[in-house]
Amino acid sequence: MRFFIKSYGCQMNLYDSQRMCDALTSAGHRISPSARGADVVILNTCSIREKADEKIFSDLGRLKSIGEESSENFMIIIVGCMAQLRSRDIIRRAPYVDAILGPQDIHLIAEIVDDAAKNRRLDAIVSTSQDAENKFAQLSDKFVDRNVSEFLTIQEGCDKFCTYCIVPHTRGREFSRSVSEIVDEANKLISAGVKEITLLGQNVNSYAGKGLDGKKCDLAGLLFELAKIDGLKRLRYTTSHPKNVNESIAEAHGDIEILMPFLHLPVQSGSDDILRRMNRKYTCDEYLRRIDMLRRRRPDIAFSSDFIVGFPGETDDDFRRTLDLIKKVEYAQAYSFKYSPRPNTVAARMDDQVPENIKSERLQILQNLLNEQQLKFNQNSVGRRLNVLFTKSGKHKKQLVGRSEYSQAVSAYVDGVSVGDIVKVKITEAVSHSLLGTVEP
Ligand code: SAH
Ligand code: SF4
Ligand code: F3S
Repeated sequence: MRFFIKSYGCQMNLYDSQRMCDALTSAGHRISPSARGADVVILNTCSIREKADEKIFSDLGRLKSIGEESSENFMIIIVGCMAQLRSRDIIRRAPYVDAILGPQDIHLIAEIVDDAAKNRRLDAIVSTSQDAENKFAQLSDKFVDRNVSEFLTIQEGCDKFCTYCIVPHTRGREFSRSVSEIVDEANKLISAGVKEITLLGQNVNSYAGKGLDGKKCDLAGLLFELAKIDGLKRLRYTTSHPKNVNESIAEAHGDIEILMPFLHLPVQSGSDDILRRMNRKYTCDEYLRRIDMLRRRRPDIAFSSDFIVGFPGETDDDFRRTLDLIKKVEYAQAYSFKYSPRPNTVAARMDDQVPENIKSERLQILQNLLNEQQLKFNQNSVGRRLNVLFTKSGKHKKQLVGRSEYSQAVSAYVDGVSVGDIVKVKITEAVSHSLLGTVEP
């Protein structure tokens, strides 16, 4: 059968989609370039903000009509975080869905497709176990196509319970894969032509897996182990929680040459009062001290962050503190969102919800400042020679696109350079979200 997978949400979903693609391809199914023309459509869903949920219901409506015009066996499978959380709503609003799998049940995909094709049922098959250990034990060990830069999930779930966040309810409790399993997977990726690996976890720096000596190993230990792999050119990890940044991670940034000098370290807010109500478990001062600790070991390290504006009770003064913190750190990139109340989270029940128009106003001001900082960071690269890993072809002939060590998108016209090469590029121009450069002979 031909299958099409659409991913929403974060990089962990992209990784899961890749693994489902491996499982289905190994079972003899083929990829379809679009939903139209596919026999099986899989939506790998996200539930982080309300808008994400609504987008999936509207896509489902569209899929229903594609299904009506397609083969009799057209199948729709909903997987991922929103599937975990809202299986009942999905069945009520889209009774034509064939199966629903939570993010820790994706290893069942090939079995479910075969079963649903053989036995057409009236009711959807539902599996929402939240058992990450079993997921990794059961996933297919065959890898199909890989790109130059790939993700590798090392840790699942979250025990932090920030008061605004749905993730602990969707991905379940924290689970870390063992070092040997991760090293094996990294080696397989390298054999498939991968040059850069980004380790993934919702709380990647609270990683605590079984080490090669049978004892607990932390993220720094894992990074040192992975750095020994021949052929691995670049290593990154995301998403880190500020509370779990420690000296040993900072040391890894100082000592491991292939560990890239770029860190996504979401602060969310610059007000201690809001951070406390978010249950983030750090103050602004602690956050800034951790940034300093990393800069001491790796002076050129660049930072990105996530921000939420309009968290319940956020005053003009709280918001101003967020702008002050941004000015102190000087971010290379950032993502920012309006607070969105999520079902069964503590913050959704808090008084003083902030009106939508104030959230929009603050988001605009915040994004203007962050865009300014990103442009400034990029402009500082002009005239410098940066190492770029080329990951794909550009829009024009002889143009390649890649990333600098600081995770900036760089495009350059090249001769005799291929995707997968790391080359020194002279940066000639900075636009707000990317750089242009030339490769000097
Ligand atoms: N584990 C990561 C974040 C995962 S979710 C961390 O702790 O930083 C990605 C981002 O979505 C968060 O950093 C946060 O900025 C945003 N986010 C999460 N829940 C949200 C909500 N209810 N409303 C708006 N943004 C939210
Ligand atoms: Fe959500 Fe907080 Fe966990 Fe990140 S650390 S996934 S924001 S609960
Ligand atoms: Fe969304 Fe789940 Fe990721 S809620 S952001 S897909 S962990």
